[in-house]
Amino acid sequence: MLLRVEAIVRDEKYEDVKAALDAIGVNGFTVSQVMGCGIQKGYAEKVRGSEFDVVMQPKIKFDIVVSSREWAQKTMETIRSAAKTDEVGDGKIFVSEILEVMRIRTGETGYDAINEPEE
Ligand SMILES: Nc1ncnc2c1ncn2[C@@H]1O[C@H](COP(=O)(O)OP(=O)(O)OP(=O)(O)O)[C@@H](O)[C@H]1O
Ligand SMILES: [Mg+2]
Repeated sequence: MLLRVEAIVRDEKYEDVKAALDAIGVNGFTVSQVMGCGIQKGYAEKVRGSEFDVVMQPKIKFDIVVSSREWAQKTMETIRSAAKTDEVGDGKIFVSEILEVMRIRTGETGYDAINEPEE
């Protein structure tokens, strides 16, 4: 089963999350700089946010496609421990199903496209 773990974290947690993902041995990930807001619409993260406008905060998004539920769970827990400060704005993790993946070099699809060849 191919699953995508999409995590939006504080930008200052970028190095910690990257190191933690590397440490558990995920086979690849994509990082993007994004802007967003959550339930507080950005207010609580500003010293004095505007009363009327949604305040967008810079965040970092990690995208990791894994090939089992166990890996999705492990990836989520790893990101949570690395990204957590207990303050509002720590971020969110979304998991969704991926229909297909192809490794461009070899044309391999599915599980084989995510994992190393078995010896
Ligand atoms: N429902 C959502 N859909 C898409 N992106 C979201 C959603 N909620 C949060 N995000 C993204 O996650 C970032 C951080 O959200 P945040 O941690 O503030 O969520 P929250 O639900 O307000 O939780 P908390 O109460 O801990 O702050 C946002 O800036 C946004 O990029
Ligand atoms: Mg919030």
